[in-house]
Amino acid sequence: MSDSAITSESNPTPDGEKLVRRKVNTLIPEGSPWNEIEEAFLKRRSVRKYKRKQVPEHYIKRILEVGRYSASQGNCQPWRFVVVRDRDMINEMESYVLDMFKLMTSAPSQKGNNEAPPDPEQRPAMHPIPLGLLTQSPPGQGIKVFHGAPTLIFPLMDSRGIGHPEIDLGIVGTNMIMTAYSLGLGTCWVGFAESLNSGNWPKKLGVEEPYKLVEALAIGFEAGDAQHNYVHRETHRITWFENGEKRVMY
Ligand SMILES: Cc1cc2nc3c(=O)[nH]c(=O)nc-3n(C[C@H](O)[C@H](O)[C@H](O)COP(=O)(O)O)c2cc1C
Repeated sequence: MSDSAITSESNPTPDGEKLVRRKVNTLIPEGSPWNEIEEAFLKRRSVRKYKRKQVPEHYIKRILEVGRYSASQGNCQPWRFVVVRDRDMINEMESYVLDMFKLMTSAPSQKGNNEAPPDPEQRPAMHPIPLGLLTQSPPGQGIKVFHGAPTLIFPLMDSRGIGHPEIDLGIVGTNMIMTAYSLGLGTCWVGFAESLNSGNWPKKLGVEEPYKLVEALAIGFEAGDAQHNYVHRETHRITWFENGEKRVMY
């Protein structure tokens, strides 16, 4: 496969002075309806079924461009992006990641098989929610990695980033996902993609030290209705200190 450079129009954003930020000076009364941005964050869902139709290239460039403006610690911008829109390559990645997943989940305990089952009291707690999701894939469907999405964006993390570059990667990914949502596209984070840091994939994708592939973003036109994908949200405890008092609320 040959390399060809993306030219000028990949950086369409005007210079900083023209990006004038919106300033809200009016007070919003309690109980006001959610505004457009709040609503977008509340209503976005992970999409796990896509049309075959490819997303136009300029959509993806818009998404990448908004990503480029994300916040990062010390403005170190510890990322770069790999875009894959090649159907065969995505299929190859799908089978590779699935094989790796099967290998991981079938691996015997390192201490051997005669070991008594771990005492749940002693076991370091795995977060209960992802464990549930992993074991509850719909009957007959198995686990699908990239959900048939026609475009994948891999935000690569520069491990020299200040502090916790993983956080910066979470921010850039969220910003790109919300941009895609605003353009009418479906998206899904794909954490399983991390296993593409092995085998021939780093070479093939051009992932070299100090970069690391941490996630993939699956992007495409939604098939069906991801509205049904709504999953419950916990109301975690909020501890609130004010005027010398401590309150606990939910
Ligand atoms: C870092 C990260 C990795 C994720 N990895 C996967 C994944 O590999 N496969 C998948 O189907 N969903 C994945 N998800 C999506 C979550 O399961 C989903 O966001 C969560 O269940 C909440 O549902 P919602 O996105 O529809 O609101 C991931 C989400 C995040 C933030």
